[in-house]
Amino acid sequence: MAEATTPGADTALPLCASAELVERGRAKVWDVMLWRGRTTAFALRFEGRVVAYINRCAHVPTEMDWQPGEFLDQDRRWILCSIHGAAYEPADGRCVGGPCGRGRLMAIATEERDGQVYWYPSPDIRPAPEPAADPAPAP
Ligand code: FES
Repeated sequence: MAEATTPGADTALPLCASAELVERGRAKVWDVMLWRGRTTAFALRFEGRVVAYINRCAHVPTEMDWQPGEFLDQDRRWILCSIHGAAYEPADGRCVGGPCGRGRLMAIATEERDGQVYWYPSPDIRPAPEPAADPAPAP
């Protein structure tokens, strides 16, 4: 008999097809719950590996992308915050320049297998519930 599983800290959740994440290309952005608040996370491919972080700058807790899914600088070398230009190392999320100081991005564990990218929730970062459907228009 198959066991029902509830997403937990050790449950890999499907994120996207591997082919969606091209080297240093546009990131996959998705909703998560960080502690009790809804926010976004992003995953991108850098040096062949999929890395994922909470979309929240270490300088001011705000989203960083220039355009939806665009996090890398013009040379596709650094993750660059669009607000004040903090630069982060894509491989590990640490601040390498700008106003993020000794901060770093909050990493999310990922795994890639069989052409699919998965992410792992943690005690702090959980799957976001589906947004509530718009109420039916009044008659
Ligand atoms: S909010 Fe990102 S550098 Fe200031």
